[in-house]
Amino acid sequence: MRPMNAKMGNRKDRVIVALDLPGYDHAAKMVELLGGLVTYYKVGLELFIRDGSRTLDMLAAAGKNVFLDLKLHDIPNTVGRSVDSITAAGPVSLTTLHTMGGYEMMNRAREAVDVSGSELKLLGVTILTSIDEDTLREDLQIGHSIPKLVRNLAMVAGRAGLHGVVASALELAMLREYFPDDFIIVTPGIRPAWAAKGDQKRVVTPREAFDRGASYIVIGRPITGADDPPAAMKRLIDELG
Ligand code: C5P
Repeated sequence: MRPMNAKMGNRKDRVIVALDLPGYDHAAKMVELLGGLVTYYKVGLELFIRDGSRTLDMLAAAGKNVFLDLKLHDIPNTVGRSVDSITAAGPVSLTTLHTMGGYEMMNRAREAVDVSGSELKLLGVTILTSIDEDTLREDLQIGHSIPKLVRNLAMVAGRAGLHGVVASALELAMLREYFPDDFIIVTPGIRPAWAAKGDQKRVVTPREAFDRGASYIVIGRPITGADDPPAAMKRLIDELG
C-alpha cells in the first residue's frame, strides 16, 4: 500500500489509472476488466461525490492502491479534519490539497497524517494547467510567471511537510533540480503516441514522463475510453521502457 519513490518499484506499478467514470457500476466493471494489469487507481470528485465510500471499499477488496484526488482547499482546521476522515476511510495512499491554501493549512494536514500513524502521502496542487498567465494577471492580480509560481508553491509545500506535488511533464525537469528523488511528483497529461489527445494540449508519453523524473503518472481516457481497455493497458506497459 505504500507509495514508492522514483527509485523504487517498477514503472508498471507507478501507472495510476484515473477512474473518471459516472458511478460505482462503471468503476467496478473497469477494475474487474483491467484485473492485475493495474495496481493503482485515482478516484476524483466526480466518482467520489456520487459513490465514494462504496468505491473505496471495492478498491480495497480488490487489493488496489488508491489516489484520492479531492484537491482540498479550506481553513486549516477543516482541512486537518478532512485528512483525519481520509486516514479513517482506509485504503488511500495518496491525496491532494491546493498549495494556495497556504503553509498553515498544509502543515495542519501533515500533522493529521502524523497523528493518525497512517502511510497516507500528501500531494500539493500548484497552478492548475487550465489557468494561464492572463487569468493570473487579470483576475487574480498575480504578476509572476507560472514556472516561478509553481516552483515557489512547491517549495512552500515541501517546507510545510507535504510529501510531493502534482506537476505537468513540462515542470518535471525544473522541479527535479530542487527536489530529491524521494519527493513524490505525480504527472498527468499523459498520452501514448497511439492515443487521441482529447482536450489535453501539452502531453508527453508515459516513458518520457518517467524519464523526466515523474514518480507516478496518471492516465485516464486512453485506457478507460479505449475499445479494449486491457489491450490498451498492455500496450502502454510494453512501452514504459
Ligand atoms: O486526460 P486523462 O483522461 O488522461 O486525465 C486523467 C486525469 O488527470 C484526470 O482525472 C484529470 O483531472 C487529471 N489532470 C489532468 N491535467 C492536469 C491535472 C490533472 O489531466 N493538469
